[in-house]
Order: sequence, then C-alpha cells, then structure tokens
Amino acid sequence: NVQDLAGRPDDLALTPTLLHRYLRPQPNTVDLLLDAPSDEQEQDHVPVIDLGRLLGQDGGGRDEEAATLRSACEKWGFFQVVNHGVPEETMEEMKRNVMGFFALPLAEKASFAQEPGGIEGYGQAFVVSEEQRLDWADMFFLLTQPPSYRDLHLWPSNPSTFKDCLESYSVAVQRVACDLLRAMAENLGVRDHSDMTRLAASQAVRMNYYPPCPEAHVDRVLGLSPHSDAIGITLLLQVSAVPGLQIRRDGGWVPVMPLPGALVANVGDVVEVFTNGKYKSVEHRAVVNARQERMSIAAFHSGKFGTSYGPLEEIVGDDEVRYRSVTVEEYVKLVVSSKLDGKNIMDAMKITT
Ligand code: SIN
Ligand code: FE2
Repeated sequence: NVQDLAGRPDDLALTPTLLHRYLRPQPNTVDLLLDAPSDEQEQDHVPVIDLGRLLGQDGGGRDEEAATLRSACEKWGFFQVVNHGVPEETMEEMKRNVMGFFALPLAEKASFAQEPGGIEGYGQAFVVSEEQRLDWADMFFLLTQPPSYRDLHLWPSNPSTFKDCLESYSVAVQRVACDLLRAMAENLGVRDHSDMTRLAASQAVRMNYYPPCPEAHVDRVLGLSPHSDAIGITLLLQVSAVPGLQIRRDGGWVPVMPLPGALVANVGDVVEVFTNGKYKSVEHRAVVNARQERMSIAAFHSGKFGTSYGPLEEIVGDDEVRYRSVTVEEYVKLVVSSKLDGKNIMDAMKITT
C-alpha cells in the first residue's frame, strides 16, 4: 500500500531499501515533449471530440467531428471527449466516492484486498516478482458490466453512496463507449455497427490513487509503468487538475492535461487488432508528483466471454491480415500472464511473416 508508505511520519519514513523497489535506473523526465505551442507549429495537443456534434445532436458539424475522430484514432490513439452527456453531477459524485474510499483507514480498505492471482479488489497492479520496480500507486479494480460479472462482496458500503453511484456512472460511461465505437464503425465503413459496439459489451472500472512522492527522486519513480490498454476502449476521468497522464508520441512523452468535465478516451489493443492496425493503441504512463496526490478513474470496455477478437474482414479488405484471432478467454489469459510492459501483448498477437 503506497498511500500508507507515503504518509508515514519521519521516524518511519521510506527506508533506502524500500525506496529502492520503486526507483528506476533512468530518470523518466528527460524525453518529455512539452504540450506548449511554438511560433511556427500548430499546438500539438491531444484532439478534442464534441460527442453531441459527432452524433448530430447539435445541428451542424457532424462530418467535421467525424473527421477529427478518424485522425485521432489513426494518428494519436487518444482524444478527450466533451459534451458527452454523462451528467456533471454523476461525474462529481463518482469523484467524491472514490476520494472517500481511498481516505478510509487501511484496515477497512484491506477487507477488499485482491486475492492472490485475482484481478478484482484493492491493491497494487501487476506485482510479479521481488526484483520488479514497483509503481507508485494503489488501485481498486471492479468488474461493473454486465451486472452478472460483478462480485458484490467487493463493492464497499462506505462511502454509503458508492455502490449506487458506481452503477449510474458505469451505465452512463458504457453508453459513451458505445457511441464512440458506433462512430468509428461508420468512419470505417462497417455495415453492422454491432460488430464494433460489441467491444464495449463488458466493462471494468479501475480507480487509481497516486500519493505524492515525498523523496527527491520523483523523476525516477513512476505512478504507472508504460503500457497500452489490453481492451477495446478506455474512458478515463482525471479526478483533479493535477496532471500525470502522458502518452507516447514521436519518441517522447506528451502530457494529457486535465480538461474540466472531459473524459480521456483511448483506443485499446483490441481495437487495433479489430481494425487490422488502422487505429493505434498507444503506450502511456502516469508520472507522480512531489507535493500533490492524484486520482483517476479508468473504465475499460471489452467484448464478452464466449466471443473472439480478430481483424474484421470488412476492414481488412485486400490488405494482408496482420493479427491472429483469439477467443476472449485466450486473450485474457495472455494479458494476466504478462506484466505491464509496453506493447508486449500486442506483439504476441501480431502475425510475423
Ligand atoms: C491508466 O493508464 O489506466 C491510468 C492513467 C492515469 O492515471 O492517468
Ligand atoms: Fe492505461
């Protein structure tokens, strides 16, 4: 539990041996590309999609928005979504509940601890060995959709509004994921949109807590190691204005600055496979901060068990097939057996000739 480590009084402070488990050989800030406009260049920032316009709800601008979505999926793998229809109150209440949960005493959170080998519950992500460099983060991970996938024993009654709030948030955000996938299907000329919206048939929510990193070594500690998301589409809510998310671009890292009210969307590995590589699942990471804590809430959308993932024939057309097809069950096995490390899962799906 990193929150507990970070909050210790000085006489119990992080010992060099403990800290060593979080320190990486190289500083992680050297290759940061700043998200700042320069004179000659247009500002290089993560594209913003207005979902209302994309759905044609607000009069004109639909085609323009669809074109922005297409280039965001092809060139960035990431975009921010505004005017998405998730009520502001639902988002704010979700933030309050997540903050409330992480503020509970450790003993209370520990009653929701991850089982060894399990993925759901409270704990740290992807600890596979003693030697591994650890991430400076605590997480609470729950399967949320469809309701039959839930393990309700792990849904806390404290804060008292947590369960109801997670339910409403989960439904609202899954709808956004479906709307985006439908718009992508349209952009790709996929006739039956359900071929793509089925990639959001299930959902898991991971709440991330990054305590401030009290040591002078912030540049050698990461909140979350570089990885791509092994799912269909992720919608992330950054809880406060504290930045931390960075995405891989042109060999460097670009920060995704929190935009009030927005959800950060990213194309996952499964969409890359599905589109035969037309849409990119981009690596990202979370950095930590010496003074301020940070929280984020990620909703991961995937296909249901019993279905399979592979390039959609209609999208492949005359191109060569670049990825193999696997069942969702095989895919999940691949994911849980590999540690968080760049795009290694994707590489395992690639057909090499
Ligand atoms: C994630 O990659 O799931 C979370 C990144 C973040 O906390 O911004
Ligand atoms: Fe991620």
